[in-house]
Amino acid sequence: MADIIDLPDTTRRDGGGGTSRAVVVASAVTALGGLLFGYDTGVVSGALLFLQKSFGHLSAFDRELVTSLLLVGAAVGALGAGRLADRIGRRTTVILTAAVFVVGVLAAALSPVFPFLVATRFVIGVAVGSASMVVPMYIGEVAPPRYRGALVSFNQLAITSGILVSYLVDYGLSSSQNWRLMFGLAAIPAALLGAGMLTQSESPQWLVAQGRDGEARDVLARLRRPEEVEREIEVLDRNTKAAEEELGSRALLAPKLRGLLTVGVLMAVFQQVTGINTVIYYAPTLLSNAGFGSSSALLANVVNGGVNVGMTIVAIWLLDRVGRRVLLLSGTSGMVVGLTTVGLTFLIGGDHLHGGGAVVAIAGLLVYTGSFAVGLGPVFWLMISEIYPSNVRASAMSIATIANWAANFAVTVSFLTLLNAITNAGTFFLFAGLTVVALAYFAVRVPETKGRTLGDVEERGAKAAGRAA
Ligand code: BGC
Repeated sequence: MADIIDLPDTTRRDGGGGTSRAVVVASAVTALGGLLFGYDTGVVSGALLFLQKSFGHLSAFDRELVTSLLLVGAAVGALGAGRLADRIGRRTTVILTAAVFVVGVLAAALSPVFPFLVATRFVIGVAVGSASMVVPMYIGEVAPPRYRGALVSFNQLAITSGILVSYLVDYGLSSSQNWRLMFGLAAIPAALLGAGMLTQSESPQWLVAQGRDGEARDVLARLRRPEEVEREIEVLDRNTKAAEEELGSRALLAPKLRGLLTVGVLMAVFQQVTGINTVIYYAPTLLSNAGFGSSSALLANVVNGGVNVGMTIVAIWLLDRVGRRVLLLSGTSGMVVGLTTVGLTFLIGGDHLHGGGAVVAIAGLLVYTGSFAVGLGPVFWLMISEIYPSNVRASAMSIATIANWAANFAVTVSFLTLLNAITNAGTFFLFAGLTVVALAYFAVRVPETKGRTLGDVEERGAKAAGRAA
């Protein structure tokens, strides 16, 4: 068990807050940000096929640019959103993010020339990066501890659903080759996110940090059982005061937080370097190169997207029952099995698969995606919303989120080159090896946070770090 946060097991099956309709609505509205994250990262794979119709020949580099500039924008968005969320509040940051989404996707849909489209992908990326950190942060702060795992992971469910919807939209619009509509449709959930968020309250934690306890009490009165409100305000107040001398990002460098920051950043990097987006973005390419017809490659891709959504639902069901660590460790082990299976299939059958080999490779990919979806997918975003004290939460989440997008970018741009350099089998064995390293790290360093209030996590984390220092 991690010694960074030594959290005793105080899980209360009967306590820790009842969930009210208001909390579920707040989480569902905010999770539209996750839907846009998934949709905008997924939609480009199909849209790419039709851009030439409007812009003439596009080189491989042009295609890489339009795909991966979103990831660069996302790192920038995650940086900006961390600062904004502290300064103007979580809710207002989500509303601004929704506005950037609307502008970005409509501009993409109307692009007159290719460089304009590339620029809009950067803008959409800024919104995606901002949503990717502020959505789990906001839900984590409004959710009662007993259901926090499930509610924060609504976001991951929305991400995976967004990816699946984008595949289906791409497939549905492929006969009309209407790439503009593929991009533009995202304006609908973006407008709903902005409008929906206008009806929601600000995060109680942020309000307490601003000294606005009265408003925080009103918000908590809607989100918690009556007897829980005062205790939560007290803990939040105490934590805010304790943290007052070490405000802002400077506090992150204090020894007691450095360990937690390392956990967030390494989980972020491991979530990406274990290869998930090579499958999410390139599965059709990989499968058609391996000898599949394009329609069976697309079908396998949709099945993979379905498994991703389905296993995320299983995670949501289990996270607050069995805890984060069990899912993280078993899911990551499953990823090793899936990746090794795919690697072995390519090793034995060569880069072109037929019959049984093809079936085993697809089964391996599905095991891999399903295992990611039940563990590392949701648990990374959940953990970074839980383990940081409120005064540095936004800065710390923003650093972990930037690390996630930067690692995503590095893997995405190098994947096709890697396949050429070390073959399909070599690439999958490399991912499998990195996943074994990730598993060992998670086993030793990642704490259990199930069932505790964020205030409790914060207090116990500070005590444990104090003891270790
Ligand atoms: C990751 C994304 C990935 C998605 C796939 C998320 O948790 O951060 O990079 O595309 O899961 O489901």
